[in-house]
Parts: sequence; C-alpha cells; structure tokens
Amino acid sequence: MSPPASDIVRFDQLAYRYPGGQDVLSGVNFSIAQGEMVYVTGPSGAGKSTLLRLIAALCRPTRGQLVVMGQNLSALKNRHIPAYRQHIGLVFQNFNLLYDRTVFDNVALPLVIRGYAYADIGRRTRAALDAVGLLNREKSLPLTLSGGEQQRVGIARAIVTKPALILADEPTGNLDPEMALEVMRGFQRFNEAGVTVMIATHAIDLIEALPHRIIHLEHGQITDKRPTAASQLGDRHGAR
Ligand SMILES: Nc1ncnc2c1ncn2[C@@H]1O[C@H](COP(=O)(O)OP(=O)(O)OP(=O)(O)O)[C@@H](O)[C@H]1O
Ligand SMILES: [Mg+2]
Repeated sequence: MSPPASDIVRFDQLAYRYPGGQDVLSGVNFSIAQGEMVYVTGPSGAGKSTLLRLIAALCRPTRGQLVVMGQNLSALKNRHIPAYRQHIGLVFQNFNLLYDRTVFDNVALPLVIRGYAYADIGRRTRAALDAVGLLNREKSLPLTLSGGEQQRVGIARAIVTKPALILADEPTGNLDPEMALEVMRGFQRFNEAGVTVMIATHAIDLIEALPHRIIHLEHGQITDKRPTAASQLGDRHGAR
C-alpha cells in the first residue's frame, strides 16, 4: 500500500469555528496511520473534544480538509453519515449508558439499531463483553457495576460493530487512578489487535507509562511543547 493510503485520518490546514464564534482550531495538520495509538492532550478549552467531534462527523470543517478512511468529510452527504459512523467507535467520559437496560442490552444496541440478525447479535455482543472482561456481568444493570466496569461496558458497545477507529473523549475522567489504568490498558489491547485508537485526555501521568504518540493542542493549534501534568490544568479544568 502506498503511504498516503495507510493514513486513516488526515488533517490538512484545518480550521473550525462554532457557529457565530471565533476559530477554536486553526492550521491543524497531522495524520494518523492505520493501527496507531494516539493521545490528544492540551489544557481545557484547547480543542481536544472539537477535534474528535470533527472526525466523528458531529461537526464539519470550516476551512481546510479532513479525510478519514478515504472520505473527505467536507463532501460527505448527511444521508451517508450513519454509514460512515459504522466504522467509528465512540467512548464518552460519562459512559452514556442506558441505566434501565442490562449490560447485554447496552452493548447490543448498535447491532439492534443496524438490524443485525438475532443470532449474530448474541454472538457479537458476547465477544465484545468478553474482550472487556465482563462476560459474567451480561445480565447486570449498569448501576450495580463499578465506574471502571461501566466504562468497559461503554467500550464494549463502541467495539461491538468492529470499528476501524476508536475515538474516546476523556474516557477515564470519572474514574479513580486504578480503574483509569485498567481502562487505558483495555484500549491498548484493542490497539494491539489492530484498531486505531485516539484518546483525548488530561491524564498525562497515566499515559506516561504506556507506549504512545501525543498530539498536543494549545489554543486550537498543535504544538511541540511537551505537556506536563501542571500544563493540563487549564482555567476551565474540570469542565467537559
Ligand atoms: N458548542 C459549542 N459552541 C461554541 N463554542 C464551543 C462549543 N463547544 C466548545 N466550544 C469552545 O471551543 C473551544 C474548544 O472546546 P473543546 O471542548 O474542544 O476543548 P477541550 O480541549 O475538549 O476542553 P476540555 O479539556 O475542557 O474538555 C473552547 O473555547 C470552547 O469554549
Ligand atoms: Mg473536551
């Protein structure tokens, strides 16, 4: 394969502004190769979540180009967005689980929505639960699980459709350090299995021990400045 074709994500002079606002990302240039594991760091308000939202086609580039899995996202028609998102697994800080449904039902949901056959749903859902070590909790309700286990349900739901790319926004933000490490190790295992993973995180101390590439943002631009734990404490620290 030629080098450009192996890039799963490519930003080219990208800028983004929310409607009516100023640029919150500008001059963003980088690519991610298939199979990479990348952390996006930067102080609160730097644009980490916006970067992931752009890749997930939850918002569109204002200027410049963003190509993901060969798809130019500026040209992606709205009706093609659901098919595009099938290849992306999203993991959120607050887990976003349905609390009146079992662990199994939560993980199965993306398959149900996409109309998979009943037998397929059972097989794939159990495989995803097995991958996060929660096969024995399939009948449990989320609130009877620890925070780390709830996040692992969120991760199982994100991988159940076998996405090529996982995007996780502060996936350990609501976890204690031990659970956070366990969740980060889980992402690492998926990456080792060939999935490209991008994680926005404040948890510099946590990722120092893990193999990684860092894309560091300051005021909406990528910088070579190495993040430190202190530099992560932006003026809106704690805001989502
Ligand atoms: N829906 C929105 N409308 C207008 N401005 C927004 C919106 N969401 C975010 N912003 C602004 O865009 C900038 C980047 O926000 P973003 O949420 O991407 O930062 P972040 O790096 O994820 O921060 P945090 O670490 O707090 O999660 C901030 O200045 C923020 O105020
Ligand atoms: Mg954010």
